[in-house]
Amino acid sequence: MKRRIAEILRSGQPDESIMVQGWIRTKRELKEFAFMEVNDGSSMANLQVVLDKDLPEYENVLKQSNTGASVQVSGVLVESPAKGQRIELKASEIKVFGDSDPETYPLQKKRHSFEFLRAIGHLRGRTNTLGAVFRVRNAVANAIHQFFQERGFLWVHTPIITASDCEGAGEMLAVTSLNLKDVPRLDSDDVDYSQDFFGKPAYLTVSGQLEAEVMAMAFSNVYTFGPTFRAENSNTSRHLAEFWMVEPEMAFCDLTGDMDLAEAFLKYVFKSVLENCPEDMEFFNKRIDKTVLETADNIINNQFERISYTKAVELLEKSNKKFEFPVEWGLDLQSEHERYLAEKYFKKPVIVTDYPIGIKAFYMRLNDDEKTVAAMDILAPKIGEIVGGSQREERLDVLERRIKAQGLDIDNYWWYMDLRRYGTVEHAGFGLGFERLVQFMTGMANIRDVIPFPRAPLTIEF
Ligand code: 4AD
Ligand code: MG
Repeated sequence: MKRRIAEILRSGQPDESIMVQGWIRTKRELKEFAFMEVNDGSSMANLQVVLDKDLPEYENVLKQSNTGASVQVSGVLVESPAKGQRIELKASEIKVFGDSDPETYPLQKKRHSFEFLRAIGHLRGRTNTLGAVFRVRNAVANAIHQFFQERGFLWVHTPIITASDCEGAGEMLAVTSLNLKDVPRLDSDDVDYSQDFFGKPAYLTVSGQLEAEVMAMAFSNVYTFGPTFRAENSNTSRHLAEFWMVEPEMAFCDLTGDMDLAEAFLKYVFKSVLENCPEDMEFFNKRIDKTVLETADNIINNQFERISYTKAVELLEKSNKKFEFPVEWGLDLQSEHERYLAEKYFKKPVIVTDYPIGIKAFYMRLNDDEKTVAAMDILAPKIGEIVGGSQREERLDVLERRIKAQGLDIDNYWWYMDLRRYGTVEHAGFGLGFERLVQFMTGMANIRDVIPFPRAPLTIEF
């Protein structure tokens, strides 16, 4: 019977007759027999296979069984006499599907740098670290759905191609079917978008929020979870041009309710991943970042700090630390500031609220002081901003004013304004960068190593 290796190592008993399929990690030849480590991606640990010299076509099979080759092994599980594993598979039949030339196979037994592995992105899932990353990534995704589904949130699918700039920052990648070698132009020399696929400018979405708000105004509590895109020219270890975002949106909810949900959500996801991927999390703690488990424990068991932006600026000014970027009320917090607050000062996640109106998006609710908006960012140690959210402006006149003040084309937002005309209600939501969460959880230093196929400026292989 075909079995997955993770399950065999967990529950397999001596004397069981089984079959596995996977890829050879290593092979060792001795006089009377040979050992193979086989991995099928289900776990960090390999299954040790023992090939006896009496096996039919032993020499031939062995010649083809090199690191990277794909094999099917049938046999009986036996207690392992050696240290390192409880059971091993004594092969009675082995089939090599595809061999692998040991001279050219790029994954050698030594440790490879993550940079090198990025250059062989089509093979890096076969390494211990990337294998663990993608299993944890899957577990995080699963926990996200569970969290919201248990609470009755509807998963809504917001469009990837859009005509509106949610963040109003103009960092969008255009979608067009126009011939770029011969772009149709109007008399004014502007591009004639009426001849384009959609008849007007279209882009890859930077956020599903505006459409999630539409759905929340019918279903109360909803969430999106899908790819989003940013044309920011940021070559950092925390930015991708294509990343996944989780965006809950709740009607009849204010900023406090929003923060409460975000905090409960992060705690839930950490707990769930610790329960479901203990082996992989141990690995990260041992090999990647020695604080991974401590961080998880800290998240699960401590309340997040909550402070206003104004207070945060005061703390930064009082810190006497030399920052590269200036600290001044009205300026956005830079990653170094965010990290100081979360990592050094509070030593845990911090929720910063009520940012100046000038540095936040048009849809955030204007506070009574008219200088700040009901925004909240969650800052995490080592990562900086991991969540960005807000209570939304539900008052038609204020919203109209803000859209115009930011120089956005109000005609594009007619349907968004309609939500404030018909049954408007206070509502709030947030966006969590999925890859930043996976980074935070695993301790991986570069965001490009927690997504299978990273897209970043000048980076689009595979
Ligand atoms: O703070 P942001 O820009 O918020 C929004 O897009 C809102 N519309 C969300 C909402 O309220 N529904 O982005 C949200 C999060 C950030 O906190 C960060 O974790 C992540 O998305 N993020 C990125 N992750 C990877 N690469 C990038 N270039 C990112 N830009 C934002
Ligand atoms: Mg933000």
